[in-house]
Amino acid sequence: MAANKSLLILPGDGIGPEVMSQVRRVIDWMDKRRCVTFDVQDGLVGGICYDTHGVAVTDETMAIARTVDAILLGAVGGPKWSDVPRQHRPEAGLLRLRKDLDLFANLRPAVVFDALIDASTLKPEIVRGLDLLIVRELTSGVYFGEPRGIDTLPDGTERAFDTQIYTKPEIERIARVAFELAAKRNNKLASAEKSNVMESGAYWRRIVSAIAAQEYPDIEYTNILADNCAMQLVRDPKQFDVIVTDNLFGDLLSDEAAMLTGSIGMLPSASLGAVDPTSGRRHALYEPVHGTAPDIAGQDKANPLASLLSFAMMLTYSFDMAEDARLIEQSVQDVLASGLRTGDIMSPGHTLASTSQIGDALLAALDRRAA
Ligand code: IPM
Ligand code: MG
Repeated sequence: MAANKSLLILPGDGIGPEVMSQVRRVIDWMDKRRCVTFDVQDGLVGGICYDTHGVAVTDETMAIARTVDAILLGAVGGPKWSDVPRQHRPEAGLLRLRKDLDLFANLRPAVVFDALIDASTLKPEIVRGLDLLIVRELTSGVYFGEPRGIDTLPDGTERAFDTQIYTKPEIERIARVAFELAAKRNNKLASAEKSNVMESGAYWRRIVSAIAAQEYPDIEYTNILADNCAMQLVRDPKQFDVIVTDNLFGDLLSDEAAMLTGSIGMLPSASLGAVDPTSGRRHALYEPVHGTAPDIAGQDKANPLASLLSFAMMLTYSFDMAEDARLIEQSVQDVLASGLRTGDIMSPGHTLASTSQIGDALLAALDRRAA
């Protein structure tokens, strides 16, 4: 019996709680069936935390987040909190988790399941078999750069500003994560920036290119301008395997990549910190790329598959349980093959299913595969 694994579950807002409750069912299933025990703690993050405590995440929750082996998050935000001051906005809770735990490496795989070819707005031949990985820098860049704010010039003109800033070590560490992942996949990496316009973009290109030449000569490496990358992603996405990029471009490109797969409701993500050299542990947070979908929240309509696939990523990256991760991924494929679809991936000839019906089908598929 392996040692208990400690988890913090932060369902958040909107559809977050609904999709996370399906993940909990899989955790219970694994507790019973797979010789692994998860110690689960719950917490609040986002708008729900603001409503209860007046902040988007509490210090107590942050303290727990620092001690657990992994964090599972649903989603944060919604129109209800649009007038809340920025430092207390739901998003601030997620950003604090990322920043305080130094979760600098965000992995966003975009995989097209054969069963969902019809759900993509792109032609089947463009997306069939697509399997790409966006590696997004997550704790720096314009998301956190100082100074930022709104002020007034001497002539009375008001202005707003943010700062795009990257240090050399920040670029180097995300580049190395991306090269290492590329080395485990197809030895191919593209780095996206705006080196033609931005100082920080030209610097990013210089640092990543140097690492490519000095440390990873066997990896096929290219730089690409981020706008061209956005275009190439819809023109011919299969030319890419791993893409490394900064925080802001990664936010944009990963939403775009998500839609190649048919729905943002399908995309998982992992946000990883550095491995501690003494303990060998690393902070890690797993969350679906989708948002809170306030229009369908609380109606049992949301697609729980991105959350379930995020749970599978946790098994792989935090617990070295690749076999169990594979079991979940294959069961997701079984559910899709059975024709069940939530609204976001619905197409003619399939059966519309609720969040909980997808969960039922997934558990049944797990039972079959584990039998
Ligand atoms: C994401 C989201 C977040 C981001 C929001 C919710 C702060 O869009 O994870 O992609 O912008 O990083
Ligand atoms: Mg985003």
